[in-house]
Amino acid sequence: MNYSKTFQEIYNELQRVEDIGQVANYIPELAHVNPNQFGVHLITVNGEYFAFGDADVKFSIQSIAKVFSFVLAYSRVKSNIWERMDLEPAGTPFNSLVQLEYDKGIPRNPFINAGAIVVCDILVDELASPRENVLSFIRSLTKSSTIDYNPLVAHSEKKSGFRNYALVNLMKAFGNIKNDIEKVMDLYFSICSLEMNCKELSESFLFLANNGIVPHTGEKILSPSRTKRTNALMQTCGFYDEAGQFTFKVGLPGKSGVGGGIVAVHPEKYAIAVWSPRLNKKGNSYKGMLFLEEFTTKTKLSIF
Ligand code: DON
Repeated sequence: MNYSKTFQEIYNELQRVEDIGQVANYIPELAHVNPNQFGVHLITVNGEYFAFGDADVKFSIQSIAKVFSFVLAYSRVKSNIWERMDLEPAGTPFNSLVQLEYDKGIPRNPFINAGAIVVCDILVDELASPRENVLSFIRSLTKSSTIDYNPLVAHSEKKSGFRNYALVNLMKAFGNIKNDIEKVMDLYFSICSLEMNCKELSESFLFLANNGIVPHTGEKILSPSRTKRTNALMQTCGFYDEAGQFTFKVGLPGKSGVGGGIVAVHPEKYAIAVWSPRLNKKGNSYKGMLFLEEFTTKTKLSIF
């Protein structure tokens, strides 16, 4: 199947839809992006790939990085990480504080900000040089060596990250953050500032469509059972209070970021990354979601 033609068709259809989304501006550095860029990259477990538009342009992956940090903790940590966070959909925005108070500092899942901050705390304990180790882990999943942090974005978020500081302080008060807050938040803001393009993102998620094994190196990242569970978490929690909509309309496990990127996987088949910077009210890419909905509908390649 040649997906390039399908990409072009869907893109043409979406050109006729007004983009009612807004670029994220609560992190000032993200507001500089050209909002009209659009890229897609799909890669199959057999190594076939299809690119469209700005598939090679790097952007801020933001919350998509939460999958990498979670997988690293899940694969390395001997202790039971589920004592530190839950695995239920939150049903609240990604940066919400309300549930943390009720649940005594235990975040509902690893993909909301609070959960990802706890994962960073675990990685600070577990890894010798967490910042470097996370980066080399992500590079090892792709054929690219140019993936890197953007210190300007990390700094911009740190300066405006009042809600994230509220989350980490609340969790520290409940005893669910073990390390120095600044050390944990430096790692959190760094991973959110990672820049990748759609090609690198689809490549780096392909192990989740391939039973936990990186196809081009044969390296085993997760067992088949943990791969299934990671995909289940993306399905139920990857889009915050829009996880139901994404499942309903697209029908793939996936993860979004406020940089406008979305990655999704079809186990045994493919990984796809889409990038369109304007976000809907839930903080997910407006046209990215529409694109994926059309793609899985036209190709019948959803998991449901
Ligand atoms: O912590 C934040 O608010 C951002 N660095 C990441 C949020 C995000 O990407 C939510 N995703 N759609």
